[in-house]
Amino acid sequence: MIEIKNLTKMYNGFRAVNDMSLSLQPGDAFGFIGPNGAGKTTTIKILATLLEPTEGDAFICGYSVRNNSRKIREVMGYMPDFFGIYDQVKTWEYLNFFASAYKVPGHRRKAVITDVLELTDLYNKRNDYVDNLSRGMKQRLCLARVLIHDPQVLLLDEPASGLDPRARIEMRALLKELRTMGKTVFVSSHILTELSDFVNKIGIIEAGQLLAFGEVDMILKQLTVTRIFKINILNAYDRAKELLEKVSHINRVEVKENIIQFEFRGTDEELAELIKTLVIEGIKVVGLQEQKADLESVFMKITQGVVS
Ligand SMILES: Nc1ncnc2c1ncn2[C@@H]1O[C@H](COP(=O)(O)OP(=O)(O)OP(=O)(O)O)[C@@H](O)[C@H]1O
Ligand SMILES: [Mg+2]
Repeated sequence: MIEIKNLTKMYNGFRAVNDMSLSLQPGDAFGFIGPNGAGKTTTIKILATLLEPTEGDAFICGYSVRNNSRKIREVMGYMPDFFGIYDQVKTWEYLNFFASAYKVPGHRRKAVITDVLELTDLYNKRNDYVDNLSRGMKQRLCLARVLIHDPQVLLLDEPASGLDPRARIEMRALLKELRTMGKTVFVSSHILTELSDFVNKIGIIEAGQLLAFGEVDMILKQLTVTRIFKINILNAYDRAKELLEKVSHINRVEVKENIIQFEFRGTDEELAELIKTLVIEGIKVVGLQEQKADLESVFMKITQGVVS
């Protein structure tokens, strides 16, 4: 659906994107994550055929950004990080304008506009002036506009930036819905947790370099050498702590009420052995949980702050 091949973008000798390659399948939701100045917007603008690559190429639905921008614009919707304000235009008129620009046939326009207004929860605002909408509504309107020609691929550059917590959650729900509609979504953000529950693939970019790319679970697994576990027990906390501290691949044993937390570097077999030992020693184990590594800490681990 999206294929980036050895893509490089130079701005007057400055390498903003460096030899990037990745590929996404239909239905993938891809989180493109990186700090300020990493090269996210530059990459997305190249995919949206608004910037030319210096070297390499990128393909959307098999069309090259180098020589098939017209076709790409038919199958792709691009939501920029900043978009212009339109004075004296109503929500409805704004969408109608884009519907005609995208050549949605006249007789279908009304239904299409109603659909995207409902999807983005703006139907009640259809007769409001665009510049009177709140920031979150404008953001959703921009997404409504991007959906008007029913593109298969969506390129969204920080769609949730500047939104309050509620609006962020609503935006996330909307993105999830787009994914369930079968669209391939390429979304950038520097807030990792924002994407973690809806993307299946992530790429981490810093200083123009793609540092990691793949399935979310795979990347998390690769990077979490140390796992953190919590064991719930009913008795003998000090004894349990003592036992755990003797194990060579365990560190930082802490007791909090009836929970013992520790860092673990062993295998699953060794973990099973460990629980067996506790039980044999008469400790009443009622639960074991692994604390999932969050994307935030993975991000900090991969990016060493090259930019700053
Ligand atoms: N038109 C331009 N001319 C020169 N340099 C540019 C231009 N646009 C971007 N850059 C530089 O390219 C690098 C990547 O910028 P880009 O906007 O792609 O980053 P980004 O990852 O989108 O950052 P942010 O999270 O702040 O939006 C930055 O160092 C930026 O200064
Ligand atoms: Mg950007």
